[in-house]
Amino acid sequence: PRPRPFVRPLTVPPVLTPYRRDASGDHYRIVQRAASAEILPGVRTTVWAYNGTFPGPTIVSRRGRPCSVTHVNRLPVPTVVHLHGGRTPPASDGYPLDFVHPAGRMPVHDHRHMGGDVRFGQRTYTYPLEQRAATLWYHDHRMDFTGPSVWRGLAGFHLVRDSEEDRLRLPSGPRELPLMITDRSFDADGSLRYPSLDPTLTGEPGVRSPYEAGVLGDVMLVNGVPWPVATVVGASYRLRLLNACNARRLDLRLDPSPDGGLTQIGSDGGLLAAPVRHQHFELAPAQRLDAVVDFSGYRPGTLVTLRNEFGEPGMDRILCFRVGSPVSDDFVLPERLSTVEDLRTADAAVTRTFRFRRGNVGHTTGWVIDGQPFGPDVVAAACRLGTTEIWRLTADFHHPVHLHLNPFQVLSRGLGSPLPSDAGWKDTIDLRPAEEAAIAIKFDGYPGKYVFHCHNLEHEDMAMMANFTTR
Ligand code: C2O
Ligand code: CU
Repeated sequence: PRPRPFVRPLTVPPVLTPYRRDASGDHYRIVQRAASAEILPGVRTTVWAYNGTFPGPTIVSRRGRPCSVTHVNRLPVPTVVHLHGGRTPPASDGYPLDFVHPAGRMPVHDHRHMGGDVRFGQRTYTYPLEQRAATLWYHDHRMDFTGPSVWRGLAGFHLVRDSEEDRLRLPSGPRELPLMITDRSFDADGSLRYPSLDPTLTGEPGVRSPYEAGVLGDVMLVNGVPWPVATVVGASYRLRLLNACNARRLDLRLDPSPDGGLTQIGSDGGLLAAPVRHQHFELAPAQRLDAVVDFSGYRPGTLVTLRNEFGEPGMDRILCFRVGSPVSDDFVLPERLSTVEDLRTADAAVTRTFRFRRGNVGHTTGWVIDGQPFGPDVVAAACRLGTTEIWRLTADFHHPVHLHLNPFQVLSRGLGSPLPSDAGWKDTIDLRPAEEAAIAIKFDGYPGKYVFHCHNLEHEDMAMMANFTTR
């Protein structure tokens, strides 16, 4: 049953209330469990979800105020939680083998990577959040099974705010919309359809061979609602767009386009130095776009569609805004937003090269970095905290490459400059086929072992991941 587009109203995930706030920070508890949701009209879909909602609840934090999240696992499989974009110590970063074992089962004896508070069926992650305001998100990160787990619903927003951002008086409250874009497919009975080799997600990882390039859905969801409609007033809105699709790249455009197009104020790693206007914006899996749109430029009654120019018919539309009457709005977008240190001029301690390609993974083929499938004991880069490195990345296919711990800046694409969508601090670069891109990373934070990987989740599960260490 294909839902009619632009009928169901957009919903926004609830903001989670801490169970305790004290001098040590804000403390949250999330139960990961199966739940039934009505995503398509008239049928029930079983999701695996944080507190039973897809997307999970939104956590809102302030820079420098630590937060702890105790995750209780009531799912039938181990899970791992990663805060994407978080500057997080290794014990809480969600290393792909640091399992939260299902409640009531014996944990496997692998304590090598374990830190923090690990108990039966639950684990407490602690986040210092010493980092700029930005749109972060949390999602499952279990080795070999991230794709199907996120597909089933294990993803949520975690927003970090700070005083620099406060000073800009950006649209807030009902005029700040976190928008998690995901494509999904469903069987006729409403169940989520994903081509796992082992649907219990406990045995053989991976997907059936026609899907190895990545799993695409044929229903577009925003915050878990298929092709929703959002009623907006004639005023400025802040849209925090997240591409949480497993493998689908998006090319976003508003139709009709507002005067001057889409105004970008931030990227993965928070505010840009100054707003940038785009007619369209390419957003690869895991990337975020923070944008301001002034709907007062439209006549009341206008339907404004957020389109995906990369999509096949049906999937070329995402969401529709129904513009209401103008309201008084004194918001003026400042010309300067933030100070962004320019890494182009930094002295790079080391230059490394990584090739993202199809390759052998055991007896089968998968996706690998420098010919090496992911293994927990192979360290691809030993990095020194306090230094800047240049990484040259090449690809045979589109690979959205993500680094944990630190954001980076895109220096070049081929012989040319970065793309307009590369501006600011990124934590994921949309690497294009047959291209060499250079990024500069300033390693800073915590010593330990972290991963970098392709965020096409099927590629990640088929071994396109590697370790770097910091010390
Ligand atoms: Cu959003 Cu390592 O992932
Ligand atoms: Cu990839």
